[in-house]
Amino acid sequence: MQHGRFITFEGIDGAGKSSQIAAVVDILRARGCTVEQSREPGGTPLGERLRELLLHEPMNLETEALLMFAARREHLAARIVPALQAGNWVVCDRFSDATYAYQVGGRGLAREKFDALEAWVHPGLQPDLTLVFDLPPEIAAARVVSSGAQPDRFEREQRDFFERVRNAYLERAQAAPQRIRVIDANRPPEVIRAEIEQLVVERWFA
Ligand code: TYD
Repeated sequence: MQHGRFITFEGIDGAGKSSQIAAVVDILRARGCTVEQSREPGGTPLGERLRELLLHEPMNLETEALLMFAARREHLAARIVPALQAGNWVVCDRFSDATYAYQVGGRGLAREKFDALEAWVHPGLQPDLTLVFDLPPEIAAARVVSSGAQPDRFEREQRDFFERVRNAYLERAQAAPQRIRVIDANRPPEVIRAEIEQLVVERWFA
C-alpha cells in the first residue's frame, strides 16, 4: 500500500488557517482520500492535557519546548505514523515548524536544542507539504481580538514576539522551499482556498 501524505498548517495566531484546514480536508475527501485531521499541541488524550498546560500554565522556555515535543512524540506514535502507514492522509494544525518559529524564533531557544529534539522525536520524518499562512502581526492581532475568545499565553504576547515568529517561519520556508509554501493570508478566504486547492491538485492529482 502507498504510504499516506502528511500536510501541516502553520502561521502566527490569527492568520486564519482553521477554515482553510477544513477546506483542504473537504478537497481531499472529495477525491476519495481517507483523511485524519488533527492539531498540535494535542491530537491525543495525553497531548490535549499537555495542551491545556502549555496554553495556560506559566513555565520555563525549555520546559515549554520539551512539553511540545513530548506531546508530539505521543501524537506521532499513537496517530500520525499509524495513519501514514495505513496509507491515509494526515492534515495537522501545526507541527515542529511551530516549535522552531515560536520557541526558537519567538522566545530564543537555542537552535541546537531544537535540532536535537527534532532529530530525536521524528528522525527522517517531515511533512510532505507545509503551508505557512503569512500576514502582518498587527492584522493577525486584530483578528484574534475580534474573535472575542479569551487570549491564551501565546496570544497575549506583544507584537515584536509575533514579528520574530513570522520571520522564523519565513526563514524556515526559504531553507526548505520544496516542502514549505508561504501563503499570503492577507486576502479573501475564497482566494486563498482556490490557491491551496490548485497547489494540492498540481502536487498530487494532476
Ligand atoms: P493553535 O492551535 O493554532 O491556537 P488556537 O487554537 O488558539 O488557534 O496553537 C496553539 C498555540 O501554541 C499557538 O499560539 C502556537 C503555540 N505553539 C507553540 O508555541 N509551539 C508549538 O510547537 C506548537 C505546536 C504550538
